[in-house]
Amino acid sequence: MCGIVGHTGRRDIIAALVEGLEKLEYRGYDSAGIALAESGGLKTVRSVGRISRLREKLAGIVTDARCGIGHTRWATHGKPTEVNCHPHLSFGRRFAVVHNGIIENCRELRALCEDRGISPVSDTDSELIAHLLEFNYEGDPLRAVRKTADMLTGSFAVAALLADFPDEIYALRRTSPLLIGVGRGYTCLASDGCALEADCVYSLGDGQYARLTPSGAEFYSRGRRVSPRKIPPFDAAHCVRGGYEHFMLKEICEQPEAAARTVEALSGRRLRGRLLMIGCGSSYHAALSALPLAERATGKAACATTAGEFLCSEKTDGRGRTAVLISQSGETADTVAAAEEAARRGYSALAVANVPRSSLTRVCRRSVLTHAGPEISVATTKGFTSQAAALSAMLAPPPLAEEVRRLPFAIERALNCDGDASAAARLLKADKAAFFIGRKSDLGTALEGALKLREITYIPAFGLSAGELKHGSIALIEEGTPVVLVHTDPQLKDKSLLTAATVRARGGRVIAVTPDDEVAAAADLALRIPAVHPLLSPAVAVVPLQLLAYRAAVALGRDVDKPRNLAKSVTVE
Ligand code: AGP
Repeated sequence: MCGIVGHTGRRDIIAALVEGLEKLEYRGYDSAGIALAESGGLKTVRSVGRISRLREKLAGIVTDARCGIGHTRWATHGKPTEVNCHPHLSFGRRFAVVHNGIIENCRELRALCEDRGISPVSDTDSELIAHLLEFNYEGDPLRAVRKTADMLTGSFAVAALLADFPDEIYALRRTSPLLIGVGRGYTCLASDGCALEADCVYSLGDGQYARLTPSGAEFYSRGRRVSPRKIPPFDAAHCVRGGYEHFMLKEICEQPEAAARTVEALSGRRLRGRLLMIGCGSSYHAALSALPLAERATGKAACATTAGEFLCSEKTDGRGRTAVLISQSGETADTVAAAEEAARRGYSALAVANVPRSSLTRVCRRSVLTHAGPEISVATTKGFTSQAAALSAMLAPPPLAEEVRRLPFAIERALNCDGDASAAARLLKADKAAFFIGRKSDLGTALEGALKLREITYIPAFGLSAGELKHGSIALIEEGTPVVLVHTDPQLKDKSLLTAATVRARGGRVIAVTPDDEVAAAADLALRIPAVHPLLSPAVAVVPLQLLAYRAAVALGRDVDKPRNLAKSVTVE
């Protein structure tokens, strides 16, 4: 997802903007740029690629600006080219705009611009916002902002400069978050608290707009001044790697305490009734891995599906059922849309999210937080584990309550397999298929392991039910093909032993993730984990898979925390 920063009242405006953008790199991006409000007008400097490229372009630039905005772009409308980079200038160069979100009526707005003789130069929807602001500007910036917001449909967080008022920033938002900070003699804004340096931090409310000046910020809604909602400043400790080589490794190692916070916070919360669990990517895997536990807990058939599939599914009646929407960021557009659709179909919607006051928690009538703490690495680790721990805490029947409380200790012990994970990583080849397989609760875990490996090493990794391997995919098994077998349920041991033998008979190399000695002995290499109840195993069994992917990615020299093409949260459908 895109990132926005802005500062006014700063003598070191270029440094302030670039440092803010660097703190948003974790969100994933493919280009970056800044705009400066100079005495001679608005200036933009933009570049494709990493922020280091932008720094090179900014080297040596001297400016009299004290106010500016910046942006990291994750391309949706239009390729990652310099023309499509933000900030975008309006046709009269009066406004510069940065935007996070999607303008759904961009086709009509592009036609409106062309009807008025303006030919947008980029493929983006964001540039149109700049032109609309200039069309609507008749000397009153806030009036122009309000009129423009009324012309937009979709989700947006926007920051704009106006050449006529070079020490002011105008902010507006609908759905996509935007935070405003007030410091000593300067005011700033950002998409995420980790990029703010401020004593007081406020959340710009949905549908609100604001004027930032060096002495503070004014908040408005529908033409009236409103009081802003203050939120706790961001704990910057989460934004530093703390001696780890990558955020991903730091966050893998934080999992025991993250899970402990989750289990403690949710002990006593119960999930009951007929459940439909919905998520995307790793959050869907957390849902799938909790499905057997949900059915054990409720005694009823339960379902797990991706948000995308739910949105295009038949509109069956959801009355009397609970939809559990799972999302680390709480901003995934498909999941937020699925929450709204579930409510329309009559489901009682519960959000399970990691980010407080995120869009998903606002859309759902009820919500619980997973308390994983801010997750910086694009590939989720503690986010997934905390989701699994949260579902375990809310679903586990009373006899398993003590085992749930001990999950953090089991996760801690699972971290000890790091050495074996490095050895297992050497069995993986950059251009050769790898398989991750499991049954029942281990299926969701195996899918998550495959996704982790794909997204940070780019190795073609397949996740599937262990029982499905023989129904076609086994054709890909050849000498040396690595097959990661996740096995935690003693009742399925015979099946797992047979699967291991079947793979090895064809030259495949079995990497077992298991507490079981016999299954470990049947593998070429074992990543040992402590035994926990099989229905609670995902939060523990995933740890070796995370370490395996991490060690393989480091060995391949990949950009572990910012994999190509990925965003931390996909805020577009
Ligand atoms: C990141 O590692 C995941 N691979 C990604 O699939 C993520 O889980 C998905 O985009 C959903 O994000 P969310 O949990 O923030 O909704």
